[in-house]
Amino acid sequence: CKKFFGMGFIEEIKRRRTFAIISHPDAGKTTLTEKLLLFGGAIQVAGAVKSNKITKTATSDWMEIERQRGISVATSVMGFEYKDVKINILDTPGHQDFAEDTFRTLTAVDSVVVVIDAAKGVEPQTEKLVKVCRMRHTPIMVFINKLDRPGQDPFDLLDEIEKKLHLRVTPLSWPIGNGPGFRGVYNIFDRSLYLFEPNKQRVEQGIAFDDLSNPFLVQYIGDATQQLRDDLDLVSGVYPEFEVDDYLSGKICPVFFGSALNNFGVRELLDCFIRIAPTPIGRDAEERHVDPAEEAFTGFVFKIHANMDPNHRDRIAFVRVVSGRFERNKPYHHVRLDRKLKFANPTAFMAQKKSVVDEMYPGDIVGLYDAGNFKIGDTLTEGEILHYKGIPSFSPELFRYVENADPMKSKQLAKGLEQLTDEGVAQLFTGRATGRKIIGTVGALQFEVIQYRLLHEYGASCRYEPITLHKTAWITSDNKPMLEDFKARKASFLALDKEGRDVFLADSPYALQTAMEKYPDIRFHFTSEF
Ligand code: G4P
Repeated sequence: CKKFFGMGFIEEIKRRRTFAIISHPDAGKTTLTEKLLLFGGAIQVAGAVKSNKITKTATSDWMEIERQRGISVATSVMGFEYKDVKINILDTPGHQDFAEDTFRTLTAVDSVVVVIDAAKGVEPQTEKLVKVCRMRHTPIMVFINKLDRPGQDPFDLLDEIEKKLHLRVTPLSWPIGNGPGFRGVYNIFDRSLYLFEPNKQRVEQGIAFDDLSNPFLVQYIGDATQQLRDDLDLVSGVYPEFEVDDYLSGKICPVFFGSALNNFGVRELLDCFIRIAPTPIGRDAEERHVDPAEEAFTGFVFKIHANMDPNHRDRIAFVRVVSGRFERNKPYHHVRLDRKLKFANPTAFMAQKKSVVDEMYPGDIVGLYDAGNFKIGDTLTEGEILHYKGIPSFSPELFRYVENADPMKSKQLAKGLEQLTDEGVAQLFTGRATGRKIIGTVGALQFEVIQYRLLHEYGASCRYEPITLHKTAWITSDNKPMLEDFKARKASFLALDKEGRDVFLADSPYALQTAMEKYPDIRFHFTSEF
C-alpha cells in the first residue's frame, strides 16, 4: 500500500510549475525567458541569459557549439520564485541537430509555452516540437511575439496555428494593431486594456474595461476602437469560451499576444500561467502509474550533460523528481544497475546559480554528478523496481560506419562510444553479419561532435565510412517462424542496438516498403518504445 506525506508536502507540490518554452530559432524564446526571470527577480539586468544560442553560430563551427553547450549547463534549468510559486523553466536547444535533446526534455515538463513570431507565423521547428507535445497531450500556451513589428493579421495567425500545428486555440488577449500602429492588447482573461509604449520596459497597469461598449475606450485607443470591438465580436463568435480543464487535457490552447523585447504582455502571460498551468503530474512506469504525492521518492534521468572542461571529467545527470522527496546523502536504488547510490552534492538550478540542496520535490529537477553510472531513461527509487516510460529514441536519419583509427586505443574507443551514446548524443548499432559499428544521428553535427569528444575526453581516434542506409526499424513479431525467416533472408541487413534488440537496416525506402508488405506479421517500429 502506498504511503502519502502530510499537508506541507502536498503544498510544496502544488506550488510548483515545470515547463519548457519552445519555438523556431529567433522567434524570441531567449528574450521571453529572460523577461520571465526578471519578473521572478532571479536576474537583475537584461542580457544576462546566455541561452543555448547554438543557432547563431555558423553550423560548421561545432567547437563553438560545444563551448556553448558547456555554458548552457547553467541554463538547462532555470528555477525561480514568483508570487510564492516555484517555477522551473527547462531550456531546449534551438538547433535542429539537437532536436532529440529537446524531445527528451519535453518528457520532464508538465506544460509548454510556444513562442511564435507574428511576422513569420508557424515555422518548421515549431511544427516538429508541437507534434511531440500533442502526442503526449501536454498542455500548451501560445505567445505570439514581436507585435511591435509589422506582422500578419491575428485571425490569419490563429488559423495557421490551427491548421499547421493541429491545435484548437482560443485567444485570451487580442492585439490592437501591429508594427508602428501597435497600440496594445485587450486582455480577454482579465477584461482589461493594456497600452503599449514602444521602448518602455516599464510594465503598464491594465485599465479595467469590462464592457467594450464603454465610450471611454475611445479616449485610449482612438480610431482603433471600432476595429477592436468588431474583432472581439468575431472572436467570441468563432472561438470557444476558455475552460481550464480543456487546456489541462491538451484540447485547447490559450493564446496571448505581446512583445517580449518590450516586456509587453509578458506579465499577463506569467500571471495567467501560474493560475492555470498544471502542477506536477505523475508519470507512467511500465509497472504502474506513480502519483507525485506518494511518499517514496522516484525520478528518472532525461538528460546527461558532459563537462567540457577536461580537468573535470564528470557529467551531470538531470533527474526529474516524479514522487516523494529527494534527500541529500540518502541511498537510492538505481534500478537498471540494481545498486544503491548516494549523492553528496545534488544540485539545484536557480536561474544562473547552481547550489547544493538538501531536498527536492516533485516537479523539481535535480542535477547529480555522475562518473558514468547513468544513461538516459534510468529510474531511481527507494527500492521499488520501476521503469519510467516515455523517453523514446527515434529512428535516426543519418548513418555512418565508425572504425577505430588507433589500434592501441580500442578499449578507449569502445568506452567512449558506450558513454557518449548513453548520454544520447547518437545511437549505436552493431551489424549482425559484420560486427561493424554503425552510428545513427538526427543531425550531421553529431558526427563531428563524437569524433572530437572521443579524442579529447577518451583519447580515442575514430574514422567514419559511408553506409547506404535509409532508415532503421526495430522489429518484433508474435509470428516466430516469420521473424526467423525474415532474419535468415535479411541477415546482412540486421543489426543489434545497445540493448540487444533486433534492428532492420533498410537501405532504401523501397526495401523498407517491400519488407513491410512481404512480412505482414512483423512490426516495424520507428521509435524505441513499443
Ligand atoms: P530565440 O531564443 O527564439 O532564438 O530568439 P531571441 O530571443 O534570441 O530573439 C531573436 C531576435 O528577436 C533578437 O534579436 C531579439 O532581440 C528579437 N526579439 C525578441 N522579441 C522581440 C520583440 O518582441 N520585438 C522585436 N522587434 N524583436 C524581438 P537579434 O537582433 O537577433 O539579437 P540581439 O542581438 O538583439 O540579441
